[in-house]
Amino acid sequence: MIKERIDIENIDGQIFEIKIVEPDNSKPASFTHYLHNHKNGVSKYYKTEAISYVKGILEKEYPLTKITTEVAESALQYLLFDLNKSTRFPAPENPTFKFIDLFAGIGGFRIGGQKNNGKCVFSSEWDKFAQQTYKSNFGEIPFGDITKIDADTIPNHDVLFAGFPCQPFSYSGRNEGFKDKTRGTLFFDILRILETKKPKMFLLENVKGLKSHNNGKTLEIILDSLTKLGYQLNWEILKSTDFGLPQKRERWYCVGSLKPISFEFPKKKTEQVTLRSIIDPNEDSANLKLTDFEQKRIDYHFQHVTNDYERVEHDSSKYEPTTKKGRHGVFSFQKKDGSLRFHVGDHAKTQIQEAFYCTLDTYSPTIIANRVPKLWDIGRKLSVLEAQRLQGFPDKYEFPVSDNQSYKQLGNSVSVPVIELIIKEMTKHL
Ligand SMILES: C[S@@+](CC[C@H](N)C(=O)[O-])C[C@H]1O[C@@H](n2cnc3c(N)ncnc32)[C@H](O)[C@@H]1O
Repeated sequence: MIKERIDIENIDGQIFEIKIVEPDNSKPASFTHYLHNHKNGVSKYYKTEAISYVKGILEKEYPLTKITTEVAESALQYLLFDLNKSTRFPAPENPTFKFIDLFAGIGGFRIGGQKNNGKCVFSSEWDKFAQQTYKSNFGEIPFGDITKIDADTIPNHDVLFAGFPCQPFSYSGRNEGFKDKTRGTLFFDILRILETKKPKMFLLENVKGLKSHNNGKTLEIILDSLTKLGYQLNWEILKSTDFGLPQKRERWYCVGSLKPISFEFPKKKTEQVTLRSIIDPNEDSANLKLTDFEQKRIDYHFQHVTNDYERVEHDSSKYEPTTKKGRHGVFSFQKKDGSLRFHVGDHAKTQIQEAFYCTLDTYSPTIIANRVPKLWDIGRKLSVLEAQRLQGFPDKYEFPVSDNQSYKQLGNSVSVPVIELIIKEMTKHL
């Protein structure tokens, strides 16, 4: 981690202190990117802004001293300490490829890239809280809004990583090029960076629903646009449960390569794991417990169920008759795998799933931004540490933000072991 306060001694005999603050511009990002890239020739992209950042801080702290560019530059040189020693997830010592981390979130791709001996030379993420988590673990502040970043200012790299938000494109205008169809979307930003920087390979990730979005037209435009840039594509839907995680996360992964390759996605693992493998048996924090309302409903189910897997009707008299719950009633039933589900209305017709509880011996549904998996048999939701294990983040990964932000960031992120294995396959072709 970069220390909040860094002492700089012996510049013209004076001791300076630099406090890394985060004003609303790209200077702190340039500064941290500069520090991370001083050994690999990439730092030239960040040097001017980094010097100006340090100069600004010194001028504020020492208004009576004349801070020349030379002083700022030597301060910066002084700061080129070995970051790897103080960073939780340091870059590899002798990296074999360079990558960039777009829509970086909390750096799931970065962990996978570094584990495969890659060096991150640029990251972008505009959410302030995600930036904090990223900085805590990688010592680097990502640049902000990618739509405002000129592709020419991004350093050259071998691989581009991006888990981008799925947005509708323009489906009209038959003769429109892909640029017109995708303009104004975040996918367009990926395209313009690929077009300018031409990395050898890329890995994109998205929700499974991308396949059927807008009757398949969205995916068609995506594949068409990438092919027109000269990339050979391989995509597949992979499940996290097939790669050692107890989470039914299904995602679309697409690998592109400028040179023709016979790419193979990683093979499924034969052994499937359950939530028991990630649960901390000593965890008993009160704030993780299910609410009284939830616990009572669960108890009611088990007190009233007569045959296994039968539906139990709950008391819906407190709901207004005009509401769906009032009209159709609330039911619960246990599936053969042990999970317990609550739904509204008739099983076949109007059923709307309302709540889902897994068990130690099942896997969880997909963790998403505002949904933390809950277990009925231990009467609680997952802790942040367990949620990070559910996505395959190492235990030493740190969240300096609130629990709610941590769950949200993990829900938005990627399953690290899946990413790591895909990148491993990619590196065979670099
Ligand atoms: C699906 S998440 C990707 C998470 C990431 N793969 C990870 O490992 O944590 C998409 C991210 O894109 C970010 N984002 C959305 N629009 C952006 C923009 N214009 N510039 C930079 N980041 C953006 C969001 O804040 C969000 O964190």
